[in-house]
This record gives sequence, C-alpha cells and structure tokens, in this order.
Amino acid sequence: AIEKTLVLVKPDGVKKHICGEVISRFERKGLEVEAIKMIQVPEELAKKHYEEHEGKGFFKDLIAFITSGPVLVMVIKGENAVAAVRQINGATDPLKAVPGSIRGDFATSIDENVVHASDAPETAEREIGLWFPELKK
Ligand code: CMP
Repeated sequence: AIEKTLVLVKPDGVKKHICGEVISRFERKGLEVEAIKMIQVPEELAKKHYEEHEGKGFFKDLIAFITSGPVLVMVIKGENAVAAVRQINGATDPLKAVPGSIRGDFATSIDENVVHASDAPETAEREIGLWFPELKK
C-alpha cells in the first residue's frame, strides 16, 4: 500500500552536509518527498515526539541532542514507505547498521545516528501531525 512516513535528518546529519545524500537515497528507491522544511526544534515538540522514551536513561540526552541544531523534517511517501525508509536508514545502533544503509555509512553513535523515521503507519500519522500541523485539514 502507499504509505507516508515522517523522517528527520538530525543535527549531526545536517552538520555533516548529508541532507541531499539522504534525500537521494529515498528518491533513488522510488520514494518521494511530499513535504519538507528545515527547523530548529522547540523543546516541547522534541518531548512530544519522543514521549515513548520518557523515563529512560537516555531521554535527557536525546532531547538535548535533537534540539542542539537545525533538523530537516520530511514526509516521505511511496509503496510501503514506513518499512522501506527503515531499511534504507539501517539499524538504530550504527554498529548493527549494515554498510550501504544511511546509518551504516554515516552514523557515529547510537545518539548521533543521522536519521529518525516512524516505526509504523500509526506512528507515522501521529508524527506527521506533530511535525506538520499546517498540513492538517
Ligand atoms: P530514533 O529513531 O530517533 O528514536 C529514539 C532515539 O534514541 C534513537 O533513534 C537513538 O538515537 C536514541 N537512543 C539513544 N540510546 C538509545 C538506546 N539505548 N536504545 C534506543 N535508542 C537510543
């Protein structure tokens, strides 16, 4: 089915100047960019986005990192977009991410792992609503 998913290029990816590289990898796989913007993430939005991780040991660092610099926010659309994007991104832990995946090629640590993508269609709907409230009808 045609799906939409929310993708972030995190502050480390923006600083490494690989936003274009990330977009290219999705496009080359037949996915398209439906919406895109560069923003500085407000702390409140960061906490809502990552609310499932609240209480975990890495939560504070996660919020500090995602708010540390500009983030590229995108809605990626296409056939099985949620799973397809996660495949292209690679595993969360860069040591487990295979070479050829975005994280396998560029991520340096589990915290600075270049990209985020929704983990399921339902999550995608929630995350797209959070990051692109202007697209809501
Ligand atoms: P992301 O897909 O953005 O979702 C939550 C983020 O928490 C994850 O990528 C990692 O960058 C970060 N993180 C830090 N430590 C851990 C951990 N132990 N397990 C999972 N995610 C972690």
